[in-house]
Amino acid sequence: MSDVRISALITGASSGIGAVYADRLAARGYDLILVARRRDRLEALAARLRQDYGRVVEVEPADLRDPEDLARIEALVRSREDIGVLVNNAGLGAGAPSVSADPEAVETLVKINVLALTLLCLAATPRFAARDDGLIINIASIIAVIPSATAAAYSGSKAYVLNFSRSLQSEFAKTNVKVQVVLPGPVRTEFFGDRPPPFPDHLFMSPETLVDVAFRALDQGEMVCWPTLHDPQAWTSFDEARRALSKAVSQDAVPPERYGLAAPIESVT
Ligand SMILES: NC(=O)c1ccc[n+]([C@@H]2O[C@H](COP(=O)([O-])OP(=O)(O)OC[C@H]3O[C@@H](n4cnc5c(N)ncnc54)[C@H](OP(=O)(O)O)[C@@H]3O)[C@@H](O)[C@H]2O)c1
Repeated sequence: MSDVRISALITGASSGIGAVYADRLAARGYDLILVARRRDRLEALAARLRQDYGRVVEVEPADLRDPEDLARIEALVRSREDIGVLVNNAGLGAGAPSVSADPEAVETLVKINVLALTLLCLAATPRFAARDDGLIINIASIIAVIPSATAAAYSGSKAYVLNFSRSLQSEFAKTNVKVQVVLPGPVRTEFFGDRPPPFPDHLFMSPETLVDVAFRALDQGEMVCWPTLHDPQAWTSFDEARRALSKAVSQDAVPPERYGLAAPIESVT
């Protein structure tokens, strides 16, 4: 890195994956802006990172459910010239079948996993595009490609993160603005709270390994990172199938024969 100080803003930096991103980005020479609700956790992490890496570390306690707090963080991302990296990591699950899901919990999930991530990206991209530089890392999940009978909103929110991030990748394909989407499997963090973990222990990766893998992937130019995928061809095949499907559904406006509407019905309006 050059002498110019570049800051990374990390949401959900008070625990788990976000706290490790903070550590690894400080080690890579970035100053930091740490965002989450628990100020005490952020302050403690900031103190350690200042001591370990000698970086400038600011804390910005914010509840990203709250429109005013979110607007404040958006304004920061939009206006601070030094912010060159945005890590959208804050996120939560609301595991329950739709018939018993708590609508308030699901609303919170959508606000954090989808809305906050989206608005923070929209706050970053105009400045990143203008100076043709910048990095966004969005944390999705393997559940992005796994419809779930017991976590529909969580699955849907992470599918959104995958598609939204890939769309940004297309938008900035010919620029130096980079967007990486990371799709972890189970990670040993506070994510599951007091609930018993829904997977056997051997399926859990440590957050340190997860973030180190994601940075290795980033350094190798892998912008869709599956930290537990051993055969990269599986993703390539999936993506090729997606491309073939998108071609197959965009050839004409004629209903297929199986629906028995031989000729398209012309609109009368
Ligand atoms: N752990 C897994 O198995 C797993 C697997 C795949 C993907 N992920 C994804 O990884 C990301 C990080 O999760 P984690 O595993 O590290 O869990 P975690 O330890 O529970 O961390 C979640 C972070 O999000 C923050 N957050 C939650 N609600 C917030 C709010 N209203 N406003 C601001 N910040 C808020 C929390 O901070 P405060 O509570 O201090 O606000 C915390 O720092 C999430 O997007 C999650 O979906 C996790």
